[in-house]
Amino acid sequence: MAKQFQAVRGMNDLLPDKTSYWQYAESISRQVLGRYSYREIRFPLIESTDLFKRGIGDVTDVVEKEMYTFPDRNGDSLTLRPEGTAGCVRAALEHGLLHNQVQRLWYYGPMYRHERPQKGRYREFYQLGVEAYGMADSAIDAEIILLAGRLLSELGLADQVSLQINTLGSAQARLNYREQLINYFSKRKEALDEDSQRRLQSNPLRILDSKNPDMRAVIDEAPKMMDCLDDASKRHFDLLCQYLEAANQKFTINTTLVRGLDYYCLTVFEWVTDALGAQGTVCAGGRYDGLVELLGGKPTPAVGFACGLDRLILLMESVKKCQQEPDVFMILDADNTKRGLVLAEQLRVALPSLKIETNFGAASFKSQFKRAYKSGARWAIILENDKMTHSAVTVKDLQNDSEQEQVSIDKLVEWFQVSAALS
Ligand code: HAM
Repeated sequence: MAKQFQAVRGMNDLLPDKTSYWQYAESISRQVLGRYSYREIRFPLIESTDLFKRGIGDVTDVVEKEMYTFPDRNGDSLTLRPEGTAGCVRAALEHGLLHNQVQRLWYYGPMYRHERPQKGRYREFYQLGVEAYGMADSAIDAEIILLAGRLLSELGLADQVSLQINTLGSAQARLNYREQLINYFSKRKEALDEDSQRRLQSNPLRILDSKNPDMRAVIDEAPKMMDCLDDASKRHFDLLCQYLEAANQKFTINTTLVRGLDYYCLTVFEWVTDALGAQGTVCAGGRYDGLVELLGGKPTPAVGFACGLDRLILLMESVKKCQQEPDVFMILDADNTKRGLVLAEQLRVALPSLKIETNFGAASFKSQFKRAYKSGARWAIILENDKMTHSAVTVKDLQNDSEQEQVSIDKLVEWFQVSAALS
């Protein structure tokens, strides 16, 4: 037999059982983004390698170890996008979207990082990214955090996630803080693991992000960014906290939250969950006021986040949140196939929001009922020869396991309207 091929390690096929969750999450996301007046932007999966090196930072895990980089046929170095922010800024600049303008943008699609695959961490994964440009006030940081919170709650995940925020201060405050950290960790070098020793000079803030439990104590006692803030950075952060409190958004301040990409300044935040093991960050972002200038534009305030859809879906599966179940499962004996087909069409026309699955083929009623329960449908419509007068059908509420009811065909639309309104 010929060799069977397999998907590339860390890259997933999405089978029909799962795609319903994805479609649901994608459609709710679009609705929520529209309600906040964000508009979609699309840009290529491949960009020049230098864009990511410059944008994300040379001394980051993503650029150092994780990019899928290759020469194209002309010898130019190209990279599969490991994230969307750099490409979004590149596209917005290239098409003049950032000339003294306010922009609220979103994008969605696959990203690529050569990481060690495990649950919730893949080499091809999907991000929904949201970016706002041209607004320096922390009100937009708050709006963007609230938007992420709204999205998570509309997906039924509000109880599964919590919000952590921190500030990295202005570029100058961060430089001062960096010196303090180098000083502090240099005196405790023996307590650092190999990775952190390597980062000591190049990127000492990332040491704070280490997940190594042996370094917990030395990290907990390290100087805090909060104590090095200049007045403007402090005001920005205090205002953000006030805005979030005014909007009843719960949060905790996590002073060791630094994020893994170099472009951040001031606000950083993550929505995290305990339900996914080590890969608990479902949504993360912050302010990146220096990036537009770094990539060739005029200084432009910017803030955004990206949600990891793969992790959101794992979370939705764990709480069984998905609205793709049919509302009605139609059980038919073979003699009633045509009537069932036609009745389902009539109901779809009269009640466009009602999702109907019909069971075709000669299965016993017992196994059709099993399928109906398994489908998650709220109601079954049963068409069987001996009971059915052609002017009525039998309806059963599967979720409340109520008695079957005879409903006249003339009244069926009204029956579903009333029942759906009551449920
Ligand atoms: P990030 O923290 O690198 O930020 O990724 C954002 C989210 O993408 C993570 O919180 C996680 O949910 C998901 N994610 C990242 N890597 C993987 C992976 N290997 N497998 C599955 N999911 C993953 C960014 O990418 C920034 N561009 C976010 C941003 C936008 N900041 C400002 N604007």
